[in-house]
Amino acid sequence: MVLLKKYISHSNQIKIIKKCQQLGCGPGGFYQPSYQEGAKLHLHMMCLGKNWDPEMRSYGDRRSIDNACPPGIPVEFKELVEDAIRDSHVFMKDDMKLSNVEEVLPVMSPDICIVNFYTESGKLGLHQDRDETRESLRLGLPVVSFSIGDSAEFLYGDSRDPDMAHKVVLKSGDVLIFGGESRHIFHGVPCITRNSAPSSLVEESNLLPGRLNLTFRKY
Ligand code: SIN
Ligand code: MN
Repeated sequence: MVLLKKYISHSNQIKIIKKCQQLGCGPGGFYQPSYQEGAKLHLHMMCLGKNWDPEMRSYGDRRSIDNACPPGIPVEFKELVEDAIRDSHVFMKDDMKLSNVEEVLPVMSPDICIVNFYTESGKLGLHQDRDETRESLRLGLPVVSFSIGDSAEFLYGDSRDPDMAHKVVLKSGDVLIFGGESRHIFHGVPCITRNSAPSSLVEESNLLPGRLNLTFRKY
């Protein structure tokens, strides 16, 4: 697991917000999904590349609520993901003195991005990301997560029990990567810190109060 603090530049954060605002208002844009039991998730979601259905826990080409196809992943987003993995490898080689970095953290070129927007009361329970293909999961191809806007508490651990989980605060511009042996960690977002986004970011982007999170994966 790698956490790259303040990795996404201010200008790239603005570009990501604006792109998500534009795509989020179009076909396949933001909606509030439900779980199988009918309860709503405490966030708004938009899928890029492929649709993820939280009720069926599966991927498809269209979503059931309105039959919309997800927009494609912007090429600039993919480049940032690939840069973040490459920069993690440099850190693992130079600072951690690891030689087999691509075995520990495999490279990944994303074909899915799930964009979540949490308002100040948003949250997400502990879960594993395990709906990708068996091959993707077997290889430990990483999930790469961008945090933008308000800070969030992020819990992670080996079980679904929040009392056993570790906690880290994810701030605007941070990139979290979990792949290889940590690909199956339980993780979740218990709360968002109100008004914690950098004010210049909010002013320049018109970001609504809350947190934008993008998780990239390979199907
Ligand atoms: C997720 O696990 O789908 C999102 C995690 C986050 O918002 O940081
Ligand atoms: Mn997840």
